[in-house]
Amino acid sequence: MERHVQRFLNKVSFVSITVATLTLLFFFLQTPKTCIPPNAPQKPHLRFPKSICDSSPRHYLPLPKKNACLWSSKSWMTQVSSFTQFFTYLYQMGLPKNHSKVLCVSAGAGHEVMSLTKMGLEDVTGIELIESLPLVSRADPHNLPFFDGAFDVAFTGHLPEALYPMQYAGEMERTVRKGGMCVVVVDEGGDEEVKEIVRLFRRSRFLGSSNVTLNGRKVTRIIMRTKVS
Ligand SMILES: *[C@@H]1O[C@H](CO)[C@@H](O)[C@H](O)[C@H]1NC(C)=O
Ligand SMILES: *[C@@H]1O[C@H](CO)[C@@H](O)[C@H](O)[C@H]1NC(C)=O
Repeated sequence: MERHVQRFLNKVSFVSITVATLTLLFFFLQTPKTCIPPNAPQKPHLRFPKSICDSSPRHYLPLPKKNACLWSSKSWMTQVSSFTQFFTYLYQMGLPKNHSKVLCVSAGAGHEVMSLTKMGLEDVTGIELIESLPLVSRADPHNLPFFDGAFDVAFTGHLPEALYPMQYAGEMERTVRKGGMCVVVVDEGGDEEVKEIVRLFRRSRFLGSSNVTLNGRKVTRIIMRTKVS
């Protein structure tokens, strides 16, 4: 009787193991339909991006390659050349000179930094809340990590978006030497808008403003000179 039960249990185990193995084998050989999007290429591992600029998600691209890619894009080059046109006017006025130290505040990805560097300026610093090395380092425009009077010229196109415009302007003035320049670009506006910006620069004298085009935007360029005394 005992033996009979034993044999029966053995048989049950054997059948269970066989069924389980076959089931596993079945699932193993089955391609789960839900894991592959319907329009996926047949062999995803054989699909290569067309170029390194391919926009499909990618885990890691070394910085020099990423920059080479960004800097050769059409939109990048267009913006840099627009900045070059913009700065050429200042350059012709004699400021900045090749040896001038220029600070670009809220420089974004660094278009203006590259433009000034290509124009022959040897000492251009770009800062932004998010760094874009090697053109732009990370710093808070409201609390610049530079000595008083460290620069000859400070430029920004993002003063109106500042959280504390007064402090932002104050930091530009502080880091520019006495007799240096603060250049601000804002959306095109009349005298009132210009006065509003100039009022933020309490230790500077208004030199002039003009309406120009920058990156396809109509803007007003405001130039101020920091007071000597
Ligand atoms: C400034 O640098 C540019 C580009 O290197 C050069 O063409 C230009 O002659 C320089 N200007 C002066 C005044 O040295
Ligand atoms: C710039 O354009 C605005 C109108 O868009 C005008 O009110 C202002 O006078 C212009 N400024 C200069 C310096 O031409």
